[in-house]
Amino acid sequence: MSLNSKVAIITGSSSGIGAEIAVKLASMGATVVVTGRQSDRIQEVVNKCQTLLSKTADEHRSQVVAYGVSCDLTDDKDVDRLIGSVVDKFHRIDILVNNAGVGSRSQFLSDGNEYFSQYDQLMDMNLRSVQRITRLVIPYLIETRGQIVNISSIRSRLAAPKNFAYSMSKAAIDAFTLALAKQLAPLGVRVNIVSPTTTRTPLWKTVYGTDQLVDSMAATMKYTCPLGRIGEPIDVAEAVAYLVSTNSLTKTLITGQTVPVDGGVLCSGVRHNYSVK
Ligand SMILES: NC(=O)c1ccc[n+]([C@@H]2O[C@H](COP(=O)([O-])OP(=O)(O)OC[C@H]3O[C@@H](n4cnc5c(N)ncnc54)[C@H](OP(=O)(O)O)[C@@H]3O)[C@@H](O)[C@H]2O)c1
Repeated sequence: MSLNSKVAIITGSSSGIGAEIAVKLASMGATVVVTGRQSDRIQEVVNKCQTLLSKTADEHRSQVVAYGVSCDLTDDKDVDRLIGSVVDKFHRIDILVNNAGVGSRSQFLSDGNEYFSQYDQLMDMNLRSVQRITRLVIPYLIETRGQIVNISSIRSRLAAPKNFAYSMSKAAIDAFTLALAKQLAPLGVRVNIVSPTTTRTPLWKTVYGTDQLVDSMAATMKYTCPLGRIGEPIDVAEAVAYLVSTNSLTKTLITGQTVPVDGGVLCSGVRHNYSVK
């Protein structure tokens, strides 16, 4: 499953699922671009990836396993700078994982204008910024016959009444992926989706200010998730690794598809209705 000589940009890789994807792809030989807004957290993930190199002692491998760049994806100039610095440094891009995303607590029926202000911020991050970075990277992916993986959510299909905007943003990412997969297939670029269920990451604390919710969801999922557990970031990272590794001819025929990492939640029709105190 070697990704030697491939350059992979993983957005939102300073935390949670993205950090695990960066470490996983680095362990497979890729040079990973670790990005987010918080430099200290970016550096932690870069260090983790570099530790892999010292452990594997692969003399054929570039000394740069991970390259950290801080970037606010909602700032167009910052995104231009990110891609510019990656191209200046590595002269190629093979993989783009659009992972960065935010949640929101705002309620559609009860939160008045506050709902629309959070809606605008969420759509800016979860939807507009994904299109912007993708468009910038596509010319390089065409050169390398590369790949895009978009991190969606089961919420795109199992909409959450308590989180309209988030569910809508992920449904739009699904539609974007399908259209893009069709458009880029003749150019040799594959575009797929990984769609996680509830996963134990810092996102929950960021949105709700407490780890209590994710702990209670983990407990509930023993019973409500057919496979009996909450997702972990490594579950999602393994699915991304499966899609981007080209070690079989069959995989190079997969595009416009969704890999749900959901413990069977989507197929079971289980109703998730966690109460947030
Ligand atoms: N956790 C779940 O239950 C779950 C379930 C389904 C899908 N997902 C999806 O999985 C993806 C990753 O989520 P996660 O749970 O790993 O969240 P997380 O731990 O909160 O990480 C989010 C990442 O996005 C980055 N980010 C946020 N806003 C940004 C901005 N404006 N510019 C640049 N980077 C930004 C954060 O970096 P900084 O804070 O450093 O900016 C961080 O690296 C998201 O798309 C999410 O919707 C999560």
